[in-house]
Amino acid sequence: MTDGFGRNINYLRLSITDRCNLRCFYCTPVQGLVKLAHDEILRYEELLRLARLGARLGLSKLRVTGGEPLVRRGVAGFLQGLQGIPEVEEICLTTNGVRLPELAEALWAAGLRRLNVSLDSLQPQRYHQLTGGDFFFQVWEGLQLAEALGFAPIKINCVVMRGLNDDELSAFARLSLEYPYHIRFIEYMPIGTQGQWHRRYYLSTEIIQAYLKPLGKLEEIPPEAAAGPARRYRLPGAKGELGFISPISQHFCPTCNRLRLTADGRLRPCLLSDQEFDIKTPLRLGASDAMLEEIFRTAIRRKPQRYPLGALESYDCHRPMASIGG
Ligand code: 5AD
Ligand code: SF4
Repeated sequence: MTDGFGRNINYLRLSITDRCNLRCFYCTPVQGLVKLAHDEILRYEELLRLARLGARLGLSKLRVTGGEPLVRRGVAGFLQGLQGIPEVEEICLTTNGVRLPELAEALWAAGLRRLNVSLDSLQPQRYHQLTGGDFFFQVWEGLQLAEALGFAPIKINCVVMRGLNDDELSAFARLSLEYPYHIRFIEYMPIGTQGQWHRRYYLSTEIIQAYLKPLGKLEEIPPEAAAGPARRYRLPGAKGELGFISPISQHFCPTCNRLRLTADGRLRPCLLSDQEFDIKTPLRLGASDAMLEEIFRTAIRRKPQRYPLGALESYDCHRPMASIGG
């Protein structure tokens, strides 16, 4: 499906829970998270029906997110359900990795192959400080297990924060020499911290790349046709890759191909705009496939050309990131 600005919308991000077993510095609002009531959250059958309808409309790439998707019971079975939708071409999971040691095998058996794991520090103590959980070794074990099982690609999302983890950028980049991981450096965004956007933590991709200069020349990897927002590079001789995602310094709205489904059943065309389309209420009132498809079409048609002006400088998100899906 094409939106009002000629963008081909083929990517649906499903937030399957707003719950999380961590409280990452950049994600958790100061006043804490207000949790959704259980019956507000879409059931797996409901999610599958919507994913099926979306896929028929051309949303053929799916990403399962949260909150932390692996804290929801039955997630492997759900992924297997998604796998069974013929029009779905690609399924990825974004996770903080804490439960990977327990679940990696079940996820593999369910047919999942692509993983994004959030990891913002390689120092166990600091990891604890940044996330509120003493799980560094567990996440590391999860990564190694996933690699051994054959997951590929395994992407590591590192949100770069000045003064908090910017002394670890070379260490992160060097991981790609030894492991097939795609290390992705992400510019810190104000999302979800509800007003407590601390400009002082922001570092641009340009500066991040300057930090990495001593590691040698980065070989650019040409973007694929349906490329995401990361610009990709490789260190000479590396098994893995480096990627840079620059939501602040390089607006990628012109190539944005995505739509989000929030944990409580609203289609959200733009991460940074609070415009949402309630699809859960009609679904639960017994709407036909055709009616639900029309809501998908409307959400895609109404996708804004770009996020609201100034949103990135002073975005007071009305909904924490955890229920939108990172
Ligand atoms: N800035 C940048 N990235 C963020 N994420 C969540 N909150 C932010 C933020 N404020 C992304 C990170 C994390 C994923 C779950 O969502 O990439 O790994
Ligand atoms: Fe949880 Fe992800 Fe938010 Fe961290 S960023 S608190 S892992 S939802």
